Amino acid sequence: MLNRINETAEYIRNRAGGEMPKTAIILGTGLGALVDYIEDKLEIPYQEIPNMPVSTVEGHSGKLIFGTLGGKRIIAMQGRFHYYEGYDMKQVTFPVRVFRALGVETLFVSNAAGGMNPNFVVGDVMVITDHINLFPENPLRGKNYNELGPRFPAMTEAYDHKLVALADQVAAELGIRLVHGVYVGTPGPTFETPAEYEYFRIIGGDAVGMSTVPEVIVANHASMRVFGLSVITDLGGKEITQVPTHEEVQLAAEKAQPKVVAVMRELVMRS
Ligand code: HPA
Repeated sequence: MLNRINETAEYIRNRAGGEMPKTAIILGTGLGALVDYIEDKLEIPYQEIPNMPVSTVEGHSGKLIFGTLGGKRIIAMQGRFHYYEGYDMKQVTFPVRVFRALGVETLFVSNAAGGMNPNFVVGDVMVITDHINLFPENPLRGKNYNELGPRFPAMTEAYDHKLVALADQVAAELGIRLVHGVYVGTPGPTFETPAEYEYFRIIGGDAVGMSTVPEVIVANHASMRVFGLSVITDLGGKEITQVPTHEEVQLAAEKAQPKVVAVMRELVMRS
């Protein structure tokens, strides 16, 4: 595993050249437009990168993008690897390992999620303040490499509190409504039954989705700072009868995109 991480990092370092960014961004479903704001872009399709899994799902084109966002150098992942696509947890989180090997210190993540909090409306942007891991497997299961992080990493501040506060400040300045919440990570690919949405609410969740948690666990293991945003693309619960579809999720995410882009860009610049 260490060899594969280093081999991939080495390849990327050679392709991108120069000093590596300290900030990485994983773009979620329908949130790819952030790349339009990246300047001086260098794109590397995943299929050209050794050891990199290749993304399969509609709406997730796969490439790494180097460039600057608001003047700050970043690496962005357009298209992530989902557990429901059949990748194992090590594959899902491999890019985060590579980012760390490249010297990345802060990870920004975004995703589309179903809202359970009754105060949420479709199109809301939620700052992830914490998560609940309901994936059947932890990405850190198996041999621990002390070079990568500790055997039993704390998850007390999985999402950096200072970045959450900064996001609130940025949103207030920009006049954007930001809500806070706990993200429940599930394997998917089924959307939830009404009883499941209800259950996730009862156990402390505000939104549910099929990604992010594995990457955030690995980023924390590798002592990176993490900031996450969820776009609320649909609502779930016993009272809600509307059926979520992938198209609806993408559309709602695209509509909320300007808010996500604005907050992310300011945060990247100021962090
Ligand atoms: N459930 C799970 N994942 C999701 C949802 C949802 O309602 N919406 C967007 N991703």
